[in-house]
Amino acid sequence: MSSPLPEAPLLFFDSGIGGLSVLRAVREKLPHAPIVYAADYAGLPYGTKSEAEIAARVPALLGRLVERYRPRLVAIACNTACTIALGHVRAALDVPVVGTVPAIKPAAEVTRSGIIGLLGTAATIRQPYVDRLQSDYAAGMTLLRHAAPELVYAAEAKLRGEFVNPQIYVDAMRGLTHHPDGDRLDVVALGCTHFPLVVDELTAVSPKMRFVDGAAGIARRIAHLTHGQVWPDEPPEGIFVTTGSVGDVESLRLALADQCLIQIKSL
Ligand code: DGL
Repeated sequence: MSSPLPEAPLLFFDSGIGGLSVLRAVREKLPHAPIVYAADYAGLPYGTKSEAEIAARVPALLGRLVERYRPRLVAIACNTACTIALGHVRAALDVPVVGTVPAIKPAAEVTRSGIIGLLGTAATIRQPYVDRLQSDYAAGMTLLRHAAPELVYAAEAKLRGEFVNPQIYVDAMRGLTHHPDGDRLDVVALGCTHFPLVVDELTAVSPKMRFVDGAAGIARRIAHLTHGQVWPDEPPEGIFVTTGSVGDVESLRLALADQCLIQIKSL
């Protein structure tokens, strides 16, 4: 395969702003990479959607985005989309696709008690994909699962500079610790890309808990897959694309600019 043009972007995809937690880690490794970040605000939240809806929606949207932006690589920065539709997307696109799946493997590597927590969306935590991650990487351990859709909204609100009731974080952690064995929980996998954006708030509730996510691993994987490729001398302005209206993301402008996403467009 010939080497991509320097301006060919990395395309990030999530239902909303969650993928910024992945983009941040990738930009640290590849600061000159041109970035297109697509947020499916017309479809947010994914966590309450059916498997069939996600499996139809995500490959169709990514098909349009790939046609428009000709990325060198697609990063699906959304656990819900990946645990349901990663295979469909890979089958539909002819560019490399990197996925984000719940960080059960890194959690299993650091737990001392053998009791791991998983916070994710309702759709993610019920997936057979998660059962497979558990049996492949955490066999013999206990995985406590809790759906915390309110953390998706908390992350969205926080990045818009809005007030978030701190009780949300207390409730999310209680959703894990109320399980039998919950008192021995020592590591929580943040299985939704929105959640690392509120890790400070979760840590304030559970200061001794270790929180892990997949962003660093994804950044390493993308750096590996693009190794030897040419990037622009100066990083171009990043592009943020929403499936919703541009006006609805106006209040995110600062948070986006923080990740060099300057141009805001509607798909
Ligand atoms: N950020 C997404 C994830 O990683 C999902 C949020 C949502 O749309 O419910 O699962």
